[in-house]
Amino acid sequence: MLEQIIILDFGSQYTQVIARRVRERNVYSQILRYDVPAREIAKLKPAGLILSGGPSSVYAKDAPLPDREIFSLGIPVLGVCYGVQLLAQFLGGKVEKGLRREYGKGKLRVTDGSCPLFSNLPETLQVWNSHGDKLTRLPRDFKSVAVTENSEYAAIENRERRFFGLQFHPEVAHTPLGREIISNFVHKICGCDRTWTMRGYVGQAVDEIREQVGTDNVILGLSGGVDSSVAAALLHKAIGDQLTCIFVNNGLLRAREAETVQNVFGKHFHIKLKYVDASKRFLSKLRGVTDPERKRKIIGGEFISVFSDSVGDLKRRKEFAAHGRPFKFLAQGTLYPDVIESVPIAGNPAALIKSHHNVGGLPKKMKFELVEPLKCLFKDEVRELGLELGLPREMVFRQPFPGPGLAVRILGEVTPSRCEILRNADAIVVEEMKTSGFYYKIWQSFAVLLPVRSVGVMGDERTYDYTIAIRAVESQDGMTADWVKLPYELLEKLASRIVNEVKGVNRCVFDITSKPPGTIEWE
Ligand code: XMP
Repeated sequence: MLEQIIILDFGSQYTQVIARRVRERNVYSQILRYDVPAREIAKLKPAGLILSGGPSSVYAKDAPLPDREIFSLGIPVLGVCYGVQLLAQFLGGKVEKGLRREYGKGKLRVTDGSCPLFSNLPETLQVWNSHGDKLTRLPRDFKSVAVTENSEYAAIENRERRFFGLQFHPEVAHTPLGREIISNFVHKICGCDRTWTMRGYVGQAVDEIREQVGTDNVILGLSGGVDSSVAAALLHKAIGDQLTCIFVNNGLLRAREAETVQNVFGKHFHIKLKYVDASKRFLSKLRGVTDPERKRKIIGGEFISVFSDSVGDLKRRKEFAAHGRPFKFLAQGTLYPDVIESVPIAGNPAALIKSHHNVGGLPKKMKFELVEPLKCLFKDEVRELGLELGLPREMVFRQPFPGPGLAVRILGEVTPSRCEILRNADAIVVEEMKTSGFYYKIWQSFAVLLPVRSVGVMGDERTYDYTIAIRAVESQDGMTADWVKLPYELLEKLASRIVNEVKGVNRCVFDITSKPPGTIEWE
């Protein structure tokens, strides 16, 4: 069994960040609900346990509490924020309401440098606090090993039992050396080796896929996005021609997108690819539609119908099915954050972070078993896996692109000629962002077509054409975003190229709205 750390989730918005930090240090980690029975945890034979933070008070009536037996498993435990308060509460210490909430940057002074959590770290560290309650008495056999201005128990330990607690958040970027603290916990205290790598995962995943699929056939809907592309490459490695991908061109793709997918997967990887050009179907359904929500619904519904038709076609035509076996499986690029059971604790923003975007899935009548080879991976791991499998960098690090495509970037009615204009303008944005080096540094950058006309001059001629808005944002996860302060020279080049090279456009503006209150897309 793969060596692993179990993280119990008490509802902190940073729980997933802890899991990622552990994995970055090449140790596999899983997030489980706070109340999972200790005997279930024991079955997984974890090398250590991390108790996450959370928005509750340990003494509140409905406080989420773990199975008490987790402290008798004989494995190291690290409590973070709410987690350390639990540790204290369960083992006989005292937690009280702090006089004021300690929030923001703080300075930690390590008072016992022999504590393995702080091994090879300086005596003072910048840390990030976010807690209201305070540890006021240590449990027996615990001692304080670090202090902040507001807390004499900022880090505590019972070295013999290998129990540790941190009042601050080591997982967030505002604790710059927090990664090292987590690394000390998993390597020095739990004794984990560096067994979790994407190179290693390829072998494991290939075995698992082969075992699940046997000699049957698999269908995958390939969108050209990172997740489905990596899933395709991984499945292909595992089951070769038992995989068939369906790529639907909905007429709302960016320039050269359909060609790239066909080149990479068809010509380079020799994956069986069914290319379905449904652009006419989509665009005719969108004729006259201006309401953003209706556009999304139409595109989602049409996708399901085109995809179902293509599946039916594949099933009828024998040449796609390897070994004359049926298409029993549907593969999906589901990621770990989609499957973690979020803890329903009031006030926990993580519980709200469920995508409102994903169109409702495929109809029930399409009877498939699912293959989800990425479902234990975070996005950054999926990218690394993609590189490991030989996918081109541009594909693995491409910016997010919405399912409804250019339709949500053309305000008002979507017509073939507007798609063409936006596609041309967008291609210039992508090209210039790549040349200037910004493309891979930021979350998203793209063009939006505003179907309002304004007056301009070109040579001696008066023009009356559309406007392109340029959007460039930085973001961690798309939930909030800041507009990027692109250099004037770059903006100038973008505007000048778009207005000169894209027929139908005579004006460019730059969107300087952050999210909230704006959204990233315009529709
Ligand atoms: P908003 O516009 O809500 O976008 O700020 C947040 C992130 O989600 C992407 N997005 C979508 N992705 N289907 C998707 O797969 C959609 O319908 C959709 N709408 C927005 C958007 O590009 C941004 O990264």
